[in-house]
Amino acid sequence: MNSKVLDASIDIAKSSFKKDGTAQGVAKQRMIETLAKPENRVINDPYAENFTQGSGFLKLIGHKTLVWITKKIVPGFHEHMVSRTKFIDDLVKDSVNGGTEQYVILGAGYDTRAHRLDLRNATKVFEVDQADVQKRKRSMLPKELSNLENITYVDVDFNHQSLKDRLLEAGFDQSKSTVFTLEGVSQYVTKKALEKTIKDLSELSQKANAIFYISYVNDLIHKNPKACFGKGYLNPEKKIDLILKGVAKVGEPWISLYKEKEIEKMLFKYGFSLRDNKTLSDLNSLYFSPVGRELDENQIFNLEHSAVAEKLVIVS
Ligand SMILES: C[S@@+](CC[C@H](N)C(=O)[O-])C[C@H]1O[C@@H](n2cnc3c(N)ncnc32)[C@H](O)[C@@H]1O
Repeated sequence: MNSKVLDASIDIAKSSFKKDGTAQGVAKQRMIETLAKPENRVINDPYAENFTQGSGFLKLIGHKTLVWITKKIVPGFHEHMVSRTKFIDDLVKDSVNGGTEQYVILGAGYDTRAHRLDLRNATKVFEVDQADVQKRKRSMLPKELSNLENITYVDVDFNHQSLKDRLLEAGFDQSKSTVFTLEGVSQYVTKKALEKTIKDLSELSQKANAIFYISYVNDLIHKNPKACFGKGYLNPEKKIDLILKGVAKVGEPWISLYKEKEIEKMLFKYGFSLRDNKTLSDLNSLYFSPVGRELDENQIFNLEHSAVAEKLVIVS
């Protein structure tokens, strides 16, 4: 029953467009969260419905039932996605309020932070993704948002193109401090491509401070699935299998998994120091308690991490 529900939503995503199945999946969770009453929700993404198939039907079902259904399929999955979004929203807002001048959204998919975070007008935003995904995104955004002056769309394939060259060609200013976010992408690109991306970020940040957010999937999902969930979580192996089959079915298999040390080492090699590393275990009470939705330990989904690194320029 559970896998049939998952299969049906995968088929909807697959039938329409080849490259954005997972981007649609993330937007759908943001839409579901946005359906909650303002006093009960953790994030608000009013544009997510533009990217969600069957959004009218989902609205009829409502937030509570949709979260309940997701909980039946993979407990904690919805809350993980929402906490990841909230964590990055806060990071970007704090960085921009603290004076960071540029924001680069790597693998932006249907991320709408450029529109919904109320960033200062002076903040220049670069959205990076595959050309087809960007074209589709712009065609689905409200017309008045599809061509804003402070947002530059830069099409890049991380596996085959130079992020550095593409960003410089698009007007990235190396003298300005920047926050870079790579949300829900590292598992889809090769390790070589991720390392090259971090190297490019480092070279782009020789003259000004940089903050870099990266989410990554723990390689323990194969070696010790239990360790990727809270104590008492039911059938961890089966849940991981369901997720791996689901993403592979939409044509975007998880090809790269990491250990914390591996990520830390790669960042360090290019001048970044890890300053934070969180999972839903850490964010559960912070985000869900205030809205009366804290999860029990046996519902915790911890297999993806949210890491933040910084690279500071030393002025002599
Ligand atoms: C799971 S989606 C996440 C989207 C967005 N960051 C979010 O959280 O809503 C993964 C994104 O990575 C992008 N992506 C995957 N492989 C890529 C590649 N080789 N080069 C550029 N973008 C890629 C996809 O197009 C997609 O938008």
